[in-house]
Amino acid sequence: QEHPKSVIVIFGATGDLAKRKLFPSIYRLVQNEKIGKNFAVVGVARRPWTTEEFRSNVSDSIQTSMKESKDLEEFTSHFYYHPFDVTNPSSYLELNGLLNELDGSYQTEGNRIFYLAMAPEFFGTIAQNLKKEGLTATQGWSRLVIEKPFGHDLPSAQKLNQEIREAFNEDQIYRIDHYLGKEMVQNIEVIRFANALFEPLWNNRYISNIQVTSSEILGVEDRGGYYEKSGALRDMVQNHMLQMVALLAMEPPIKLTTDEIRSEKVKVLRALRPVSDTQVGEYFVRGQYAAGKFNDKEFIGYREEGNVDKKSETETYVAGKLMIDNFRWAGVPFYIRTGKRMAAKSTKIVVQFKDIPMNLYYNKGETVPPNLLVINIQPEEGITLQLNAKKDESEGGYSKPVKFDLSNNLYDGINTPEAYEKLLFDCMRGDATNFTHWDEVALSWSFVDPISDAWKNGKATLATYPSGSMGPKEADELLEEDGNQWWPVN
Ligand code: BG6
Repeated sequence: QEHPKSVIVIFGATGDLAKRKLFPSIYRLVQNEKIGKNFAVVGVARRPWTTEEFRSNVSDSIQTSMKESKDLEEFTSHFYYHPFDVTNPSSYLELNGLLNELDGSYQTEGNRIFYLAMAPEFFGTIAQNLKKEGLTATQGWSRLVIEKPFGHDLPSAQKLNQEIREAFNEDQIYRIDHYLGKEMVQNIEVIRFANALFEPLWNNRYISNIQVTSSEILGVEDRGGYYEKSGALRDMVQNHMLQMVALLAMEPPIKLTTDEIRSEKVKVLRALRPVSDTQVGEYFVRGQYAAGKFNDKEFIGYREEGNVDKKSETETYVAGKLMIDNFRWAGVPFYIRTGKRMAAKSTKIVVQFKDIPMNLYYNKGETVPPNLLVINIQPEEGITLQLNAKKDESEGGYSKPVKFDLSNNLYDGINTPEAYEKLLFDCMRGDATNFTHWDEVALSWSFVDPISDAWKNGKATLATYPSGSMGPKEADELLEEDGNQWWPVN
């Protein structure tokens, strides 16, 4: 297959995302021979850096994030820096000059990726100026990659979308949700649709409930300013959590094309039962971390963190029960939970199957443990099946739960590429399947907005949980009311 050719323009090239994710991803694409010599990267930001300074920054980023870093000089020679003022038209004209020049020297056929890895307030301005000043009018293709947050509610997302749609068509826009780049998130579809063992059972006749957890050990770190306005609902649920639910619940697509897959995901989001403000307490729990201890270390509470209001009501934890009111899923709760300063860094999906009709192997009063299919997304990657098997005579009784473990990490040589590496490569090849379509963004906000409004209007209490725990007890009660429980994630 021919290597994709492109100039990649990174807005916000002096920032954290560029340094931690984007430069190393481009490096790995080159090392893995996914891209050849026909590429150049232009870093754009306010700081008055020189190309030399930029290259040495790129070089540092590779050295800190890679075990092995060879050919660095040749690699960084593809990088250029352009100091930039997003609101000044002449900045764009100068940038265009540089891009045309690089297009000639690297023979990139006029293909351009504009990657917005910076503060969202400028997304609209940049997109519009790119078009107005002629940067998108080349012989090749132009694509816009846009990081989250995509708005902070439906009206702001609509406004942003209108602004970028004035300059780019929907099929030129690549909205990043980095969870969609994770190997095991991409595996959800394959596990479901390529296995005769699961496919017939994947519905409300055989599945009792599905649990999606994404917990973090880290606290808010130095992002207090951003997080205060966002909270876990907007930061994680609106995007990553709902995307995973959509992949778990969607109907099989007719074909594996971008449009077919997206349209099935959209249908799931349309079928989500809306949560009105009077019901919010029935379906959702919000929590905030208090001081606590984890691995013998003391942690301060959220309200004591930098740039956080001492009386902050921002949630750092969300648990919810989602109902998908369609034929396949009627009656099956999808429980989600996500939070910071929890007892584990873990993203996991647990599919709990319904109980068998009669208990033959356990003593009276005991219940047979349910079959569980666990999809481990991170940090381990793989799947686990919990089944019941015969006990050894010496153990007494009849049966016991056994685990089948299929862990990707165990296989030598499978080094799952970082999410950003995959997504960047997809964008270069023009494959938008693992990016979010506008319809998905809009529907996700429509679901989330009434919940955050209800919270803002004090319609539900804010629970607290000690740092280093698995969240507030109210989240356990949410499941207990249905006769269910959270399955442990570590
Ligand atoms: C980001 C959120 O989208 O995802 C962060 O803004 C969060 O707050 C991060 O820490 C989690 O990503 P991952 O890949 O570490 O699970």
